[in-house]
Amino acid sequence: MKVHNSSEKSAPDETCSSCASAQPHNPQKGLPPKATIDVKHVILVLSGKGGVGKSTVSVNLATTLASKGKNTGLLDLDFHGPNIPKMLGIEDQRPAVLANVIEPVHVTGNLSVISMAFLLPDTSTPVIWRGPMKMGAIRQFLTDVNWGALDYLVVDLPPGTGDEALTIAQLAPNVRGAVIVTTPQDVAVMDAIKAAKFIEQLDLPVLGIIENMSGMACPHCGKDISLFGEGGGKKAAEDLGVPYLGAIPLDPAMVRAGDEGRPYILRHADSPAGKAVEKVMENLIAQIEAEQK
Ligand SMILES: Nc1ncnc2c1ncn2[C@@H]1O[C@H](COP(=O)(O)OP(=O)(O)OP(=O)(O)O)[C@@H](O)[C@H]1O
Ligand SMILES: [Mg+2]
Ligand SMILES: [Zn+2]
Repeated sequence: MKVHNSSEKSAPDETCSSCASAQPHNPQKGLPPKATIDVKHVILVLSGKGGVGKSTVSVNLATTLASKGKNTGLLDLDFHGPNIPKMLGIEDQRPAVLANVIEPVHVTGNLSVISMAFLLPDTSTPVIWRGPMKMGAIRQFLTDVNWGALDYLVVDLPPGTGDEALTIAQLAPNVRGAVIVTTPQDVAVMDAIKAAKFIEQLDLPVLGIIENMSGMACPHCGKDISLFGEGGGKKAAEDLGVPYLGAIPLDPAMVRAGDEGRPYILRHADSPAGKAVEKVMENLIAQIEAEQK
C-alpha cells in the first residue's frame, strides 16, 4: 500500500447525484468534502508543546471508553513520531489490507488502532511528508479503514497546530471538540492557550484542559515535589473560560507503562496518580457527553 502517495486518492470534487449522499458535504464553504466514516463522536487530543502527555492521555482515554463497552477507535496522526502502537504493545502488528480496505489492529474486541507506525518500514527512518500527502493519508485513515460502527474515535495528534489538526478537523464528521494537554510551567501553558485559540478558530469546542506532570510524590518520604510547578493548566482554563479537567501527577509507573505497552489506567487505578487519571477521564467523558446534547 502506498499511503504516502495517496494525495491523488482523495475523494473527487464532483459527485454524481446518486453518490452525493454517500459523500457528506462539508457545510464550511470552500472546504473539502467530509470523509465517510461511521462514528458518533470524534475527540481530538492536542497540545501546544511536545512531550506533555498527549499520547498517554489518548491511550488512557481510548482504553477507558472501550472498557465502558463503547466501540472505540484510536487514530495516531503523529506522522513523524507515532507512539501509540508502542504504548499499546502492538508495534509488531500490521493491519491487513483486503481489496483496498485496511483492517485496523484490534487491541480488544472493541478497541482498534490505526497508526502511521504500522505503515512505515521501520521506526528509525524519518519520512518526509508534504502537507497534501498528509491530507490524503488522513482521508484514507478515515475512509478506507474498516472501523465498523464506532461510538468514539480518539485522535492523537502531534504537538502544535499544524496540518494534521487542521485536516482532521475539516475531514472528520462529528468532531465534538479537542482536549488540550499541558504541563504546569509557563512555557507549556502559553502554547496550550495558543492551541485552545486555534480550536476555537475552527469553531470547535475546547472540551477542557488537562494539567499533566503536575507535581510528584517523593519516592522516599511521599512529600509533593513540584517539578514543573502546579496550577498553570487550571489558570489557563479559567482565563480561557473552558473546562478544567484536572491534574495528573508525575508517576514513574506511567513511563514504564508507556514503554512496556500497557495502558496505565488498567494497572494502577489504585495509586494516587491512577485515581487522578481515572478522575480526569471521567471529567472528560462527562464533557464529551455534555457536548453531544
Ligand atoms: N503523568 C506522567 N508521569 C510520568 N510520565 C509521564 C506522565 N505523562 C506522560 N509521561 C511520559 O512522558 C513521555 C511523553 O509522554 P507522551 O508521549 O504521552 O507525550 P506527547 O505529548 O504525546 O509527546 P509528543 O509531543 O512527542 O507526541 C512518555 O514517556 C510518557 O510515558
Ligand atoms: Mg505523542
Ligand atoms: Zn522526600
